[in-house]
Amino acid sequence: MLILGIESSCDETGVALVDASGSGIPRLLGHALHSQIEMHQAYGGVVPELASRDHIRRVLPLTEAALAQAGLGLDAVDLVAYTRGPGLAGALLVGAGVACAIAAALDKPTLGVHHLEGHLLSPFLSADPPEFPFIALLVSGGHTQLMRVDGVGRYQLLGETIDDAAGEAFDKSAKLLGLGYPGGPALSRLAQQGDPQAFKLPRPLLHSGDLDFSFAGLKTAVLTQARKLGAELPARQADLAASTQAAIVEVLVKKSVAALKQSGLKRLVVAGGVGANAALREQLNAACAKRGWRVHYPELHLCTDNGAMIALAAGMRVQAGLTDAAGSAGTGYAFDVKPRWPLAELSLPA
Ligand code: KG4
Ligand code: ZN
Repeated sequence: MLILGIESSCDETGVALVDASGSGIPRLLGHALHSQIEMHQAYGGVVPELASRDHIRRVLPLTEAALAQAGLGLDAVDLVAYTRGPGLAGALLVGAGVACAIAAALDKPTLGVHHLEGHLLSPFLSADPPEFPFIALLVSGGHTQLMRVDGVGRYQLLGETIDDAAGEAFDKSAKLLGLGYPGGPALSRLAQQGDPQAFKLPRPLLHSGDLDFSFAGLKTAVLTQARKLGAELPARQADLAASTQAAIVEVLVKKSVAALKQSGLKRLVVAGGVGANAALREQLNAACAKRGWRVHYPELHLCTDNGAMIALAAGMRVQAGLTDAAGSAGTGYAFDVKPRWPLAELSLPA
């Protein structure tokens, strides 16, 4: 069972091919990715209309590149998967439209995949894949969630952000520091040269007793601190970056530990763009090692958006016999996209 997967929910066009034959973890045969970051940089953030138009330009050449890497032709594809949501409506429509057109031409089925399910399962493509059940910390540009995952399609939301996502906190703070878009990687690079204890920044909801997050107040605190520093800011920029990162990371680590303790599970899976953050990885590794817990990450290049995680999630759904629950486009190749789509809607009854 060869699956072509297309991701186009935001500012990355990704296409990949996996082999989901048998019951083992699907194998990645080829993948190609184009990031639009440079194009959006001039505007300080993603411009949805430009994103859609660029997906249109990239998706077919990337499909050819992914197939060439695998040494296969389109005729080998048994199912075409695409990101159905959540994401930018116009951007999603490009991937969905192209996926359904390819599937119609091949007379093969399609499968609409949830973007966060792709992130969540992406560590299964790593050299150290997890086993169910586990606690998942999903930290992307748009989402910050802790989940209990008992299997494919068995997701229980334990807590989530009540305002900004962790990636957003990185991006907005970076913007305040003049680091451009997307700020997460830039801020974490600068933080390496700074003192994480230089500034006392808030750790919102750290002691709330639940597993929810709040990051909106942090950017205000960063702005206040930056204003206070005034002309001194350039000299203290790395310290402020390090202190910001330390605040975000501490909350993510402590809440992940609390989720593991509450659930009694001993395995943590981290996914989403912020999962690439070195300080977060270091501190999660230390916190888990201390307690004898295992922690799994996606390969670094599969932390941010990509087609491999979409093809993988489709493959694991097919293997689990869950193709309808994912929102298969059905017959006739009519399709829709879901710009807003809570992951909980995918969950099977307990
Ligand atoms: O998962 P992702 O590619 O897209 C969404 O689905 O949102 O995540 C993108 C987010 C951005 O906010 C970006 O700044 C953040 O992940 N990010 C990082 C790092 N690399 C990416 N944040 C902190 N440190 C990093 N190294
Ligand atoms: Zn994503």
